[in-house]
Amino acid sequence: MAPTSPPAPNEYLLDSAWHAERERLNSLTGLYDARSLELCLGLGLTEGWRCADIGAGTGSLAQALVEHVGTTGSVLAVDADTRFLDPIASERLEVLRRDVTAEPLPPGALDLVHARLLLEHLPARDAVLESMVRSVRSGGWVLVEDFDWVTAAVVDPPSDVHERVVNAAMAVFRQAGLDIGYGRTLPRRLTALGLTDVRTHAETAQVQAHRDRGVPQWELLVDQLTPALLAAGLVTPADLDAFHALWHDGATVCFAPLMVSCAGRRP
Ligand SMILES: C[S@@+](CC[C@H](N)C(=O)[O-])C[C@H]1O[C@@H](n2cnc3c(N)ncnc32)[C@H](O)[C@@H]1O
Repeated sequence: MAPTSPPAPNEYLLDSAWHAERERLNSLTGLYDARSLELCLGLGLTEGWRCADIGAGTGSLAQALVEHVGTTGSVLAVDADTRFLDPIASERLEVLRRDVTAEPLPPGALDLVHARLLLEHLPARDAVLESMVRSVRSGGWVLVEDFDWVTAAVVDPPSDVHERVVNAAMAVFRQAGLDIGYGRTLPRRLTALGLTDVRTHAETAQVQAHRDRGVPQWELLVDQLTPALLAAGLVTPADLDAFHALWHDGATVCFAPLMVSCAGRRP
């Protein structure tokens, strides 16, 4: 594969146009949608609520929200790239193409604003989070879910190649502006913005990362990052071959990154 330039700071590395991006996003939604929805229901999600999902990806969570807000509520799905959202737009599911770092969310009267696996990527994450807070009504909820990559290199049996490739992926992400420890900071960030009733939930899963059997995130993520990893000189093609072989040995298990879900209420 031809090497490309290392990522520039502020570059969102996970291009929606990558040939398997839909498959990669499906692997995320399959693992995390049920918990996200449960958390929203725990905040009171019900008929009539006006909700927004920022960085909505495939829109699968937005579609689940639509089922709960009924005909009197609404769901807005926002993304810088709406290729997966446009086909599911409807009267009750509005799709908005917007780079939220360039144009903040309008101040509003939402009952719930949600963003999963978005803010950790954005160097302008503080400003975007502030605009999310302003977009909800008094008493409305902000729910932010982001990874904390603290568990990401943990694998059994121990594997140097897994550690090397995962550390390289984290280095490339950091260079592009991703905060790999963002998840753990969410409770204090939401509190600092004046939100009340701040509550947090963190969980990981022990998984095989086989692309066809198990959770394919690692293989897909590393596939997508391969040009950047090689360009940065952090791994060799042989490392990547060994990494893929590891996930087809039928025995190795790892922890997915820790998902931190944190919610707070606007006074
Ligand atoms: C890792 S995906 C997560 C998708 C979805 N929230 C999920 O958890 O399945 C991040 C999403 O954020 C979108 N995104 C990245 N930068 C953005 C920006 N500046 N403004 C709006 N959306 C953005 C991407 O296009 C992508 O759909």
